[in-house]
Amino acid sequence: MAIVFEEKKKKWILETINMGYVFALDKEGKLKNVYWGSKLPRFEDYPEVDDLVVMDRYTWDDEFSVRGEKNNVEPCLKVEYYDGVRDVVLNYVDFEIKGNQLIIKLLDEQYGLSVKLFYRLIEKYDIIERWVELENSSDKEIKIEDIKSASLYVENSEKVRLNYLTGMWGSEFHLRKEKINEGSKVLESRVGKTSAYMNPYFAIDYDATEDNGKVYFGELAWSGNWKISIQKRIYERIAIIAGINEWDFTYILEPSKKFMTPKFVFGFSEEGFSKASQNLHHYQLDYILPQDKAHKLRKVLYNSWEATTFNVTEENQKILAEKAAKIGVELFVIDDGWFGQRNDDRAGLGDWYVNKEKFPNGLKSLIDYVKSLGMDFGIWVEPEMVNPDSDLYRKHPDWVINFQNRPRSVERNQLMLNLAREDVKQFIIDFMDKLLLENNIDFVKWDMNRHVFESGWPEVESERQREIWVKYVWNLYDIWKYLREKYPHVTFENCSSGGGRVDLGIMQYADQVWTSDNTDPFDRLEIQEGFSYAYAPKIMMGWVTDWGGKDTYPLEYRFHSSMMGSLGIGADLNKFSEKDFEIAKKQVQLYKEIREIVQEGYQYRLSSVAKERYFAVQYLNEDKSEGVIIYLRNPRRFGLFDRVNLKLKGLEEKSIYKIYEGVGEEEIEVKTLSGKALEERGIIIEDSSKEFFSTNKIKHFYSRVLKINKI
Ligand code: DGJ
Repeated sequence: MAIVFEEKKKKWILETINMGYVFALDKEGKLKNVYWGSKLPRFEDYPEVDDLVVMDRYTWDDEFSVRGEKNNVEPCLKVEYYDGVRDVVLNYVDFEIKGNQLIIKLLDEQYGLSVKLFYRLIEKYDIIERWVELENSSDKEIKIEDIKSASLYVENSEKVRLNYLTGMWGSEFHLRKEKINEGSKVLESRVGKTSAYMNPYFAIDYDATEDNGKVYFGELAWSGNWKISIQKRIYERIAIIAGINEWDFTYILEPSKKFMTPKFVFGFSEEGFSKASQNLHHYQLDYILPQDKAHKLRKVLYNSWEATTFNVTEENQKILAEKAAKIGVELFVIDDGWFGQRNDDRAGLGDWYVNKEKFPNGLKSLIDYVKSLGMDFGIWVEPEMVNPDSDLYRKHPDWVINFQNRPRSVERNQLMLNLAREDVKQFIIDFMDKLLLENNIDFVKWDMNRHVFESGWPEVESERQREIWVKYVWNLYDIWKYLREKYPHVTFENCSSGGGRVDLGIMQYADQVWTSDNTDPFDRLEIQEGFSYAYAPKIMMGWVTDWGGKDTYPLEYRFHSSMMGSLGIGADLNKFSEKDFEIAKKQVQLYKEIREIVQEGYQYRLSSVAKERYFAVQYLNEDKSEGVIIYLRNPRRFGLFDRVNLKLKGLEEKSIYKIYEGVGEEEIEVKTLSGKALEERGIIIEDSSKEFFSTNKIKHFYSRVLKINKI
């Protein structure tokens, strides 16, 4: 049984395959977290409340820390009651177990604030989801000043390290590892979306490696302002508090109304980072992504943005579509520029009618043509935005997020619609309905290209204005939910100036995400490496483009870099030579041969591009019979070498595996060895550093894709 309540000790034990998570009631009726880590052999083995390291002047370890009484951990809950009292006193009421779900009920009796703590166990992946529901059972309003999803605790030690993902536009998902010292470290977003600056993912380890050591990790399912605080004091366990950011936030909870937090998902691996990320990937595929498409293979897409930018026309798109079909593309996507007076980024956003000068026959003629070539058709939209130079803004200047009497700052020449407003939400639903009903569209790329500044909402009373941060996100999710239900044949991609809105929240509605606008095949390897810690390869779109220069990177290198997730092509096909077409065709075929393993398999990082002279990633299918290795040289790490010794992972020790290269019938054997030998002695990749001396840069970049087959 995964959830057990030990009546005598008043202890709740939550167990997954390898993880134990335990809390208990203390003598004063407070819930104390007592354990998170390796699953122990017996229920009696887990600690009791009396085993906690207790300081005498304040309290720590509260299962749900509040701003109240003696608690000193960053609070999950801060409220102000009608009479000015800001002290929350929560007492345990009772609990309920429903299959793999546990609900703990707490109450601040005097003020009628009920709190339910929810836990859902994902046993197979050593993951627990936690969220909270508040209910105002009084007849007075309660002002919520902070409501987080969970507080957690991990062992305090000299070796403890925090891992997180940071970056900026064009440079997302850089992995940082740092020692955790006393004080608080805050990972957060205050820009109204998940952001490229930091991603709501963390991992805590104690000198763990890819394959060994304890890793505690978590992710928040929220696409607005978020915050994860890591709080350390000298002796106690390290506290992790995660949820909606309380910065500039208040919410008035009316009598009998409820407030539900986003899910905070946390897990534990005793086999290092590799297992931690594999579990996250497969949890996302099985539990987070829209299930109708979660296990369907992603199609190879072509997006014309980098080829034609805003200058899209029926004619030039048809030419590109023909060329894309020639190399085996399965989905043709037209990006920005097809609507309103959108000839550059200064005008037209918000005017979602087809531009007749560019598409005199509407979209139908292009769509029919794309379909006649055997491809699906996809289209770009950016529904949350408006250019001041647009009919929409001229008609509804009050629809944007703004403070009265203050400037309306533009970013990329655009303002943000206030999606917290019901009329704005309805406007988006209506134009998306029209677009999807009138056109035979199979794929939508939903973009979002700015941050929230001047976050006012003048139409509501001032004490409700700060609700904008959450109401915006709820309405965004509602729209996506509505569209998914109404158009089940449509695949949705989420994009936000690249990877600015990648999180478990949006992934409940989006089938895939645009990883980064940086499509330089070498530069993005570090982005892809960081991404792999937190998110599944299947959702990671990577395009083969001309970024960084056609003469810098061999076309194969560009393809291999993009094959690490779901493959797209964004290069200007009009500039392709016959030879380029031949290479591209072969590479698309290669990708189709390996994509099931890449998208559905288990990913192993064989090296780190930030540290090594190469980046190699291995993928293995569930029954370990087939695999792939993608190898790319890192010429920035110079060193005289001719060969790289690559040690494989995850294979069955005694089985014999053939490692080979080739597309279709072609087969060039590299080595045939037992699984154990491939892990212990590895294989040799001939990779000569002498080419670094070449003034011809294209020789610097070398890559291979190897296939693994159990015989
Ligand atoms: C930003 C996106 O990240 C790009 O891929 C492209 O869609 C542009 N927006 C279009 O304006």
